[in-house]
Amino acid sequence: MSEASIFDSETILPDDQLAARSLTLLGFDERFARVKNQLRLLLHADQIQAWNQKNHGGHLALGTLVSDQYPLVIFHGDVGTGKTAMAECMANRLVEESRTEDSILFKMSNRVRGSGKVGEMGTLMIDAFQKVTQSAGKSRRAILIIDEGDSLAAARSQAHSHHEDKVAVNTLIQSIDELRKLGGRVVTILCTNRLSALDPALVRRAAIIEEFKRPSDIERQQLLSMDLATLNLKGNEMEALVAATGAKNGQPTWTYSDIRTRLYPSALSRAFPARPLTFDDLLSTANAMRPSPVLEDA
Ligand SMILES: Nc1ncnc2c1ncn2[C@@H]1O[C@H](COP(=O)(O)OP(=O)(O)O)[C@@H](O)[C@H]1O
Ligand SMILES: [Mg+2]
Repeated sequence: MSEASIFDSETILPDDQLAARSLTLLGFDERFARVKNQLRLLLHADQIQAWNQKNHGGHLALGTLVSDQYPLVIFHGDVGTGKTAMAECMANRLVEESRTEDSILFKMSNRVRGSGKVGEMGTLMIDAFQKVTQSAGKSRRAILIIDEGDSLAAARSQAHSHHEDKVAVNTLIQSIDELRKLGGRVVTILCTNRLSALDPALVRRAAIIEEFKRPSDIERQQLLSMDLATLNLKGNEMEALVAATGAKNGQPTWTYSDIRTRLYPSALSRAFPARPLTFDDLLSTANAMRPSPVLEDA
């Protein structure tokens, strides 16, 4: 397996595409505002001592505790609730705002699992963390997104947990522990569909845990209004779409991606290329579709 394939992508931040994408994410600013101070602490852990010295004569014991945090953030929630998109866009905005240096965003691929050869997964993971650490360098920072982390970080106690998986979780925990020595130059965001399946030792280390939910009625209305603005839907039409994408008949509320990546293309395909998209295209499609199943146990 070649080194390049351990990562799905390596992006220099700030990045214009990610900046543009954050504008299309409902609730991005609110969520970013909520966690940015904490994220900033993680990314600048090396400066906390100096801050403590300057402002508290170095006597603030809490300063030391905080700089000992693990540079691990966990995003959890059902598939399609925006974890990956938010992680990428938040990383980007953080670098944009800090304006000091470029950073690199790595997205670890599930290929790090390897092909099943004994010891392969652990080795690939060590390689991946090494690569990230090296590229962070002296001043540059790196943000590592471990997407769909369930498969790498599943609890070692699970009955079906194989030896290989246990080794991988151990390696992951060790790697996160070692990142702490870097004073925040590398921060990891692990995304998972099921927080409860993650190894408790990993969850315990997380400095930030953010939950992602399916959109509420109001959020779906805002999403539809943003995406369908030019259709000038009437109030009752909007209400009908909000209801059609809500929880009903034992089915859960639709996720963001159910609406954006399944409903829209399918509705559009009815109209394209012969005629304009109509409210009826959207409603009939919505009524014929089912939302993706709930994965996360409450
Ligand atoms: N907050 C949001 N606002 C608007 N669209 C969103 C939002 N979150 C997710 N989406 C849409 O859903 C798609 C899937 O999101 P993604 O981040 O891949 O979800 P997850 O990683 O939780 O499975 C995105 O490409 C985007 O179109
Ligand atoms: Mg994802």
